[in-house]
Amino acid sequence: MSAPLQIIQTNIPPGIIDLGAGEPQLDLLPLDMLRDAAAHRLAMGDRDFLQYGLEQGDSTFRATLAGFLSLRYGMQISYDDLFVTSGISSALDLLCGLLTQPGDTIFVEEPSYFIGLRIFADRGLKVVSIPTDEHGLDLVSLAQALKEHRPRFLYVIPVFQNPTGRTLSPQRRKSLVDMAHEYGFLILADEVYQLLNYTQAPPPSFGLYLDSGNVIALGSFSKILAPGLRLGWLHTHPDIIQRIVSSGLLESAGGLNPFSSAIVRSLIENGDLDKNIAHLTDIFATRMRVMDDLLRKHVPQVNFTTPQGGYFFWLQAPGVDAGELRKKAQEHKVDLRPGVLFSSRKGLTDYFRLSISYYGVDQIEEGILRLKGCFMG
Ligand SMILES: Cc1ncc(COP(=O)(O)O)c(C=O)c1O
Repeated sequence: MSAPLQIIQTNIPPGIIDLGAGEPQLDLLPLDMLRDAAAHRLAMGDRDFLQYGLEQGDSTFRATLAGFLSLRYGMQISYDDLFVTSGISSALDLLCGLLTQPGDTIFVEEPSYFIGLRIFADRGLKVVSIPTDEHGLDLVSLAQALKEHRPRFLYVIPVFQNPTGRTLSPQRRKSLVDMAHEYGFLILADEVYQLLNYTQAPPPSFGLYLDSGNVIALGSFSKILAPGLRLGWLHTHPDIIQRIVSSGLLESAGGLNPFSSAIVRSLIENGDLDKNIAHLTDIFATRMRVMDDLLRKHVPQVNFTTPQGGYFFWLQAPGVDAGELRKKAQEHKVDLRPGVLFSSRKGLTDYFRLSISYYGVDQIEEGILRLKGCFMG
């Protein structure tokens, strides 16, 4: 008999609890909500959303999204300042193509989202990483790096960062925008976890600084609805949007995802997106508490700060090589992501990342008990 054909990207070997996995659990993807929204949209009877769409993205969807974001982000957002993307990953690739040439320098955080780093490598960019601390990007180090380099942009994950879970403080955000203005680089703010907060609201989106002309705030439906939709948005100055919509890609393809946008518009308008985010934050807040307690109780050898949102725990096991720890973990049928994956300098070797996104509390507990076993010998 031949093996089943693979459909989804996640491929965890049977019996392993992969606490490193950063995808949402299959059970959390809201099939019923999407069924209702699709039925609602398809019953409207028009065929507009099956046609090549407006380059910037369907205006009715953008208007609905602008209303939703204005409420959730607590700032006035105009649909003119939104561009519909097919998720953050492809938006990053598109922006690299439009804003950079191979060989250009860009800045990233150390550590940063490792697949983002792959996108920049594919585009032939020279990546310089800037250290971070508990409050996010270290601006003193940034100022130092700006004496040597002229980056085209800085890629930053300012809220519940992947992998550290940290959030850039409000004071640093303002100073960062001033520095971007002074030195003439763009800030690409990846805010994929902005709406997944479990204790208190994070600082406002970087969209707050749109008028500076130096900011592109990136959002996505992948973590608040479903990655398979391949749908997101970017919020930026109209001049930058103009540059994007006049690209060959947009001219040929039209808007990036008219079909998913049309369905998600119905889902936002009937209140289900708000309900889904409430459901997710409830579940993730519990998982976060549970994992936090279990780690403190069973793996006291590691240092970490309790994350306030997003998916990730960033743990330091002083003196332990996380690559070796991973090998041992796999023997104990649990997995993690070593810190070196997220480093542009092959550093952070005694750090590792765990996630709350893929397993319920019972499996998180079993996974942490297995991890405890790795530290015991
Ligand atoms: C920081 C960060 N950016 C982007 C993505 C991917 O987003 P999208 O599905 O919108 O491409 C992820 C997913 O793990 C992520 O953690």
